[in-house]
Amino acid sequence: MKVGVIGAGTMGNGIAQVFAQHDHEVVLCDQSGEALERAKQTMENSLKRIYGKQGKTDQDIADTLAKISFTLDIETLSDREFVVEAVAEKMEVKLEVFRKLDAICPDEALLATNTSGLSVTEIAASTGRPDKVVGTHFFNPPPIMKLVEVVTGEETSEETVKAVREICGSIGKETIQTVDSPLFIVNRILVPMVNEAMFVYQEGLASKEDIDKAMKLGTSQPIGPLALADLIGLDTLLFVCETLLEETGDSKYRVPQILRKKVRAGHLGRKTGRGFYEYEPAKEKQAS
Ligand code: NAI
Repeated sequence: MKVGVIGAGTMGNGIAQVFAQHDHEVVLCDQSGEALERAKQTMENSLKRIYGKQGKTDQDIADTLAKISFTLDIETLSDREFVVEAVAEKMEVKLEVFRKLDAICPDEALLATNTSGLSVTEIAASTGRPDKVVGTHFFNPPPIMKLVEVVTGEETSEETVKAVREICGSIGKETIQTVDSPLFIVNRILVPMVNEAMFVYQEGLASKEDIDKAMKLGTSQPIGPLALADLIGLDTLLFVCETLLEETGDSKYRVPQILRKKVRAGHLGRKTGRGFYEYEPAKEKQAS
């Protein structure tokens, strides 16, 4: 299938890679040449790890990468049958991209957004084909994580959902289907759990290590909620909680004071080397 991916950042390069791994022909577009260069390098490193474990060769890596072309020009997506958008999480940026895609792509092309929480209905409404627009919420890193949440907007047709679930199946993903709503399913359940762990910590009920140990060993999660918060980024979590609270007015999404304090102090988790845990190279393993 002729697949397009727009946005070559954290998610876009992984999504392009997984399509190429499953023999789709991919065009990866970004507005930044540097992002495209980084994407190429990230994919090569990722393929080395994944193919290395499968006994595949450098030639296999080269063959997979050869299925992807890189471009700065969105017009190159004009012959694509399926396009996944993975640009920044800002509504105005996504709307502009979808208007352009709608104008240049074939009428029958399906357009998907990888948004984590913006309205699929609103994105779809910026096109003349809202029935062919859908959310495909991949998880990070896309080549490894099995799940895609398929999110329907108000106008998304059943044929689109069926086709998109099949496309996801063709790249080895499992899908679930949900209607457009704040944070969809996984993060809607995950975020309050992570928040609750922060409340337990700020109430002084247990040490951070014991809270994480409790959830890892008591519920078979691979990483404790406070270490997970550091991994996601505490600023991202704060933004998500505030958005959820605003959208739903539900106090279960209230923000723990400790989260605000850490963000104000610039302790954002792994990316700044300090959040609930400290991330000197030697200590990193211990926290997760
Ligand atoms: P990112 O910031 O790593 O990458 C975004 C890329 O889009 C950048 O390379 C940027 O140059 C490019 N871009 C921005 N505007 C563009 C335009 N008009 N045309 C072409 N390229 C453009 O972002 P990330 O983290 O990959 O997120 C992308 C989407 O995926 C967002 O909607 C985000 O909410 C969603 N998402 C992110 C996850 C994550 O763990 N990072 C997980 C699941 C979904």
